[in-house]
Amino acid sequence: MTQDEMKKAVGWAALEYVIPYTLIGVGSGSTANHFIDALGFINHKLEGVVSSSLASSAKLTKLGIPIVDSNDVDSLDIYVDGADEINKYMQIIKGGGAALTREKVIAAIARTFICIVDSSKQVDVLGKFPLPVEVLPMARSYVARELIKLGGLPEYRKHVVTDNGNVILDVHNLIITDAVTLENQVNGIAGVISVGLFAKRCADIALIGTQYGVEVMV
Ligand code: A5P
Repeated sequence: MTQDEMKKAVGWAALEYVIPYTLIGVGSGSTANHFIDALGFINHKLEGVVSSSLASSAKLTKLGIPIVDSNDVDSLDIYVDGADEINKYMQIIKGGGAALTREKVIAAIARTFICIVDSSKQVDVLGKFPLPVEVLPMARSYVARELIKLGGLPEYRKHVVTDNGNVILDVHNLIITDAVTLENQVNGIAGVISVGLFAKRCADIALIGTQYGVEVMV
């Protein structure tokens, strides 16, 4: 199986967790796109979807899936999204597609966070994938200096503006052994909008696409 076939397998496997006529959250990226394709087949049974990016919203709309504003919902039954790295504690790095802040909000609102990944995303220690941090543009240099103090090597993701009008710093050189502490430290830097470390609110279920089929981690 290719990597994309594994992504497709988990995207479609996640459909089993969708309870008809409930509200759900949907993420962004190539794996989440497979889930959106699957949702297209049950669009008439969906109460509404909160989307994590303009790109996902456009795809959902094209498939006739109703989008709801996160401000109009108290909770979501499930949130389904991909990841850039996941460890055995279901802590995650996200934000390779720059949608991390809206993804964090949706993860916070959802009762169950289902992470869908191919097996290449599984790691023992988080940090090989540069940690994305969404930053207020005028705070970029200050935040970069503070991230260096935490042991990281921040790199400005050039030519990228997030859906929220901010910029991204990708932090290299991190070996994340205490993800909750690092998440708190980065969130504490003035000018940081959010960090793509999902440790305090980690996944509840992970569907891992492997050569042998879809494995479920709970
Ligand atoms: C979007 O900002 C990200 O969090 C994605 O979920 C993550 O980058 C995984 O993307 P792929 O599914 O394309 O690998």
